[in-house]
Amino acid sequence: MTHTMNQTDFGQTATDQLRNRLAAAGQEHTLQFWDQLEPGERAQLTAQLESIDVNRLNCQDEGSELDLDEATLTAPDQIKWSADSSEDESLVKLGEQMMSRGELGVLIAAGGQGTRLGLSQPKGCLPIGPVTGASLFQILIEKVVAASREFDCEIPVVMLCSPATHRETIEYLDAENWFGLPESCRHTLCQKTLPAVDRKTGRLLMESPSSLCLSPNGHGGHLSELVDCGLLEKLTDAGVTTLFYCQVDNPMAPLCEPGVIGEHLRNEAELTVLVTPRTSPEEKVGTVICVDGVPQVIEYTIIPEELAARRDAEGRLEFRAANTGIHLFDTAFLQREADHFSSLPLHQANKKVPHIDEQGATVIPDEPNAIKFERFIFDVFPRSRKTLVLEIDPLTGFAPVKNADGANSPSEVQGQILQANRAWLASRGLRVDEGVPVETVPMLTSFTDPEIRLGRRVA
Ligand code: UTP
Repeated sequence: MTHTMNQTDFGQTATDQLRNRLAAAGQEHTLQFWDQLEPGERAQLTAQLESIDVNRLNCQDEGSELDLDEATLTAPDQIKWSADSSEDESLVKLGEQMMSRGELGVLIAAGGQGTRLGLSQPKGCLPIGPVTGASLFQILIEKVVAASREFDCEIPVVMLCSPATHRETIEYLDAENWFGLPESCRHTLCQKTLPAVDRKTGRLLMESPSSLCLSPNGHGGHLSELVDCGLLEKLTDAGVTTLFYCQVDNPMAPLCEPGVIGEHLRNEAELTVLVTPRTSPEEKVGTVICVDGVPQVIEYTIIPEELAARRDAEGRLEFRAANTGIHLFDTAFLQREADHFSSLPLHQANKKVPHIDEQGATVIPDEPNAIKFERFIFDVFPRSRKTLVLEIDPLTGFAPVKNADGANSPSEVQGQILQANRAWLASRGLRVDEGVPVETVPMLTSFTDPEIRLGRRVA
């Protein structure tokens, strides 16, 4: 009896404490349906509310606090890399040998909600191969499987998911047997979420009486999870020294390319950032710029127009290193910086977020009504002691699927895949008749043997 009393008292006290904290932060409305909730629903809402730092969601974009003093900004030194220039045998050998030693791991960011594309499944399930219909997941994973077969090694893949994609991604990949990736190499993790707040009032939005509106905490959120779930340590213990990171929406990512890995190793970089040349000052893409000599990614929304448009003596944009979201991280670098991951800045984005109102009725907004918060992976870049900026050809390395139509749409990306494959064949003296679609297939290719590339790669 006494025991029950204590439990009840404690429960009441804990709720009061939570209510007081929320009231102090102007967020008490999140408990307005409390009396109607079942115990399980109360526990869920309490867990959500206790996991967030309400005072940090104060409508101040921590990502835009960067003080851009022009005098401190310079364009980074960069090295050019292309698949065809990999005749530098020693470079390719370096990459090949490290893979053979089992020192490479792969991270694929696949936790985004793909709202612009508007699919009902995770974006990685999108069929994108113009001839084969292979999905984004398939193309990327097969590049890894092909490399592990060619270099006779295991290459662990960590699929970086979120609550929005985790279950469906696992179901999809299991049904496809992970496209031949050995079971010992299959890993997934699920990043955490952050709540959305009303744009005007800063109040937390409710998805239902027992749940906040939550969304994945940005690709930077994977870093904390990689440490917290023990995977970073597990990979390091297994001998992995470098993680090749790419985003699931870019089927052209040169995943496991020995030449790219070779450049990272030869330059003794802790971090390699792959960039493409910006085509215009208006291009909506983050740019790698050195601040006080340290390379970091600066978002297009922050760079002053004059700076974005500035040209060098040769007429090229001065700040032209566009971030592709493809990076190589040394595991030692990530381990050293692990304590900082949970304090990466919270960036803000204005989004349309359906929610319930004070009467519990659903509201579907026509205009952006909410602020979502995200951490960005590139906010760790300034902590690297040695960063290599590696320029790749956008035609062969960068084709992200973002929108349902127009720029960066599936049809544009398919067109780019066809064009890149056609150009590649033409460079080897093979003419493909106009209008005949060609697609190269990772499983039938070789990373290093040009004859195999030529003879077996075409689908
Ligand atoms: P984007 O923000 O460009 O695309 O993420 P998205 O989230 O998939 O789509 P929208 O913005 O809702 O239309 C770039 C990459 O980062 C991953 C995405 O899966 C994509 O590969 N990402 C993004 C995460 O893994 N987690 C996140 O929280 C956000």
